[in-house]
Amino acid sequence: MKKLYIETLGCAMNVRDSEHMIAELNSKEPYELTDDLKDADLIIINTCSVREKPVSKLFSEIGVFNKFKKKDAKIGVTGCTASHLGRDIIKRAPVVDFVLGARNISKITKVIDKRHAVEVDINYDDSSYAFGDYRTNRFKSMVNISMGCDKSCTYCIVPATRGDEVSIPSNLIVTEITKAVKTGAKEVMLLGQNVNNYGKHFSSNSENCNFTELLKKISKIEGLERIRFTSPHPLHMDDEFLKEFFSNPKICKQIHVPLQSGSTSLLKSMKRGYSKEWFLNRCEKIRKLCPEATISTDIIVGFPGESEEDFNDTMDVLEKVRFEQLFSFKYSARPHTTAANFENQISKEVAGSRLTKLQRRHTEILDEIMDAELGKIHEVYFDELKAGGRVSGRSDDGKLFFVDGSEELLGQIKRVEVTKTSRGALEGTLFA
Ligand code: SAH
Ligand code: SF4
Ligand code: F3S
Repeated sequence: MKKLYIETLGCAMNVRDSEHMIAELNSKEPYELTDDLKDADLIIINTCSVREKPVSKLFSEIGVFNKFKKKDAKIGVTGCTASHLGRDIIKRAPVVDFVLGARNISKITKVIDKRHAVEVDINYDDSSYAFGDYRTNRFKSMVNISMGCDKSCTYCIVPATRGDEVSIPSNLIVTEITKAVKTGAKEVMLLGQNVNNYGKHFSSNSENCNFTELLKKISKIEGLERIRFTSPHPLHMDDEFLKEFFSNPKICKQIHVPLQSGSTSLLKSMKRGYSKEWFLNRCEKIRKLCPEATISTDIIVGFPGESEEDFNDTMDVLEKVRFEQLFSFKYSARPHTTAANFENQISKEVAGSRLTKLQRRHTEILDEIMDAELGKIHEVYFDELKAGGRVSGRSDDGKLFFVDGSEELLGQIKRVEVTKTSRGALEGTLFA
């Protein structure tokens, strides 16, 4: 059997794209996954382009892979960097056999045997394409609900790598989840760059279904117990959606509300479409309607023009919302974005010290949040066997748990009492 080595960088959509590519390849010829590069017949680097660092690493990595790979092994570059660099990747690194953009991964079986094939059309529409079945974890599944993004946040390269937004027909989504449930998945993660914009653009005009209606449809699937989704956009968090979030028992009480900046004037310059007040109002509403919910966020520091006052607004939102999880980044100027040409770029030193300040304060908040978990009881869905007789899973609100146990816990939801806390994970014992 041929062997496939696949490296996946970037977000959950890329992780799902890798699963889709594995499924498509297997539909033509079975591949066995390998962690050993030297053993592989096909090497795929599924790239991310959202910040600059991973892009510069790509070419040195191709060089290393070329040095250690088997003589006839092929190298493919896929994903978001493939989308925006296209044929330049082959010009700079002719050892690369094919380049497949993030919007084109359904063409994987067509390009693997064509030397120097490049498929990077960001308008390609495979929203009705039925990908083969493959998932890394049999107890949970990821399902795309839309492709691309119809926003134009001034810092973000994603619309240039994944194209315009197209929603996937709801009946296909329901069919895919139903199939996953039949093969052992009790949990689904719905994926899109802007999930709560679902239903604005379908390829055909015949469908009419918004995100809240989609959630209602999905929750009718028998045997499905947990629904998660990422990423929603704060702008589209209307009251109807929040009501569904807190009242639907299948929807996990964990929500990502990506802030980016706490300053209304910076949010304007980022073209996010909401103000600091709107953001705080949505989070207050979530905390009030659903006190058990956890809120995670993304923050960029050092966006062009960010003053000390702007940054203090971000710190202020952190104090007020006390996010349970924070993903924070230094602004990185990207091609195909308008902010890359803005004046008032912030120095790396200033951005670095702001990032440290933000992360330090968040760590303190997180320690308080996690310490308060001691003795609490959570419903944990166990999905992974770990070394040393341990099993891991997630609580409804998204916290990572470890307990002593074995295989028979996998695929089960159990009540667990927290016996030990740390910043990243909780330990517990099964609660009768
Ligand atoms: N669709 C999602 C974001 C996807 S990109 C949303 O709107 O929330 C994931 C995160 O990367 C973003 O939320 C942002 O915080 C960060 N990011 C995007 N572009 C960036 C850039 N140029 N520099 C630094 N961080 C960036
Ligand atoms: Fe990028 Fe904004 Fe679209 Fe998110 S909503 S993918 S940040 S353009
Ligand atoms: Fe990266 Fe593309 Fe995802 S740029 S974050 S892999 S959408």
